[in-house]
Amino acid sequence: MSVFGGTAPDLKVNIAGIDLKNPVIAASGTFGYGVEFEDVLHLGKLGGFVVKGLSREPMIGNPPPRLFETAAGMLNAIGLQNIGARAFIEEKLPHLRQLKDVVVMANVFGYAREDYEHTIEILNDGEGIAAYELNVSCPNTAHGGLQFGSDPRSLDEVVTTARRVAKRPLIVKLSPNVTSIAQMAYVAQEAGADALSLINTFVAMAIDPETRKPRIANITAGLSGPAIKPIAVRMVYDAAHAVKIPVIGMGGISSPADVVEFMLAGATAVEIGTASYWDPCATEKIVDGLAEWCHDHHVARIADFIGGMVVE
Ligand SMILES: Cc1cc2nc3c(=O)[nH]c(=O)nc-3n(C[C@H](O)[C@H](O)[C@H](O)COP(=O)(O)O)c2cc1C
Repeated sequence: MSVFGGTAPDLKVNIAGIDLKNPVIAASGTFGYGVEFEDVLHLGKLGGFVVKGLSREPMIGNPPPRLFETAAGMLNAIGLQNIGARAFIEEKLPHLRQLKDVVVMANVFGYAREDYEHTIEILNDGEGIAAYELNVSCPNTAHGGLQFGSDPRSLDEVVTTARRVAKRPLIVKLSPNVTSIAQMAYVAQEAGADALSLINTFVAMAIDPETRKPRIANITAGLSGPAIKPIAVRMVYDAAHAVKIPVIGMGGISSPADVVEFMLAGATAVEIGTASYWDPCATEKIVDGLAEWCHDHHVARIADFIGGMVVE
């Protein structure tokens, strides 16, 4: 019986063999290592969470200012600050393992193919990681600094390498800074991705007209939040139609109805990022709201939404 009376809606979904109790996953970079959110929400209520992007060595990130709020969005240039894969295993994972019933995914990035390879090799030793999410929105320094995820050949190389070493399901997180997201989705699938997640942030910038200075010290930054949602929905739709593997959708989700929208476009699950900046409990509230939404709309099984857009 549910709190609303009657049978509780079934919110379960499956991504690359991983059972999630609901489709709501906290997105990388907006949820720390999960432990930071333990006191403000019930981690066990989420479908899962993705930890901050991990690299081979610790990184200090970019100088401030690193965040700037825009119309319905946010610019960030945190610079992939993190404690490094080894410290994550030693300092964060043991505690996360003790929490029952949480799905922890590790986001991985690098500036060369070997960085991804070595970071995944380190993480393979860590017990309690459900999957890897490969962030390919990083400059490939060996090849002129173009993002791995913006060049089909680099994408193929990095995914093939990661698939070879990864002992866990591999989710490839696509960059939206491309001409054809369908092509990149297909390349990632053919190189061995078990699932896709999209979208990462759009390269963007803002200038203060008074001081004439960039709003972000790094000059360019990643745009996220509701401002990017309609483009994200279109990209999820295009990607889901180009591949057979499951797609995790994200970009500006801030309500239960937004989750349903992404699922109708073809997403099996979703991630929520910037909304957690505005309200640290956003992910948990959206899980509760989703159950209510399904109940109010007489939906027994949330998985029925996947790819269910109606074109008259
Ligand atoms: C402050 C901040 C830090 C982020 N750090 C990462 C990261 O480390 N790795 C990654 O793959 N994506 C990172 N992202 C991108 C988000 O996970 C997500 O793809 C993007 O923000 C779009 O979703 P949203 O509009 O719900 O935030 C970051 C986003 C923000 C706002």
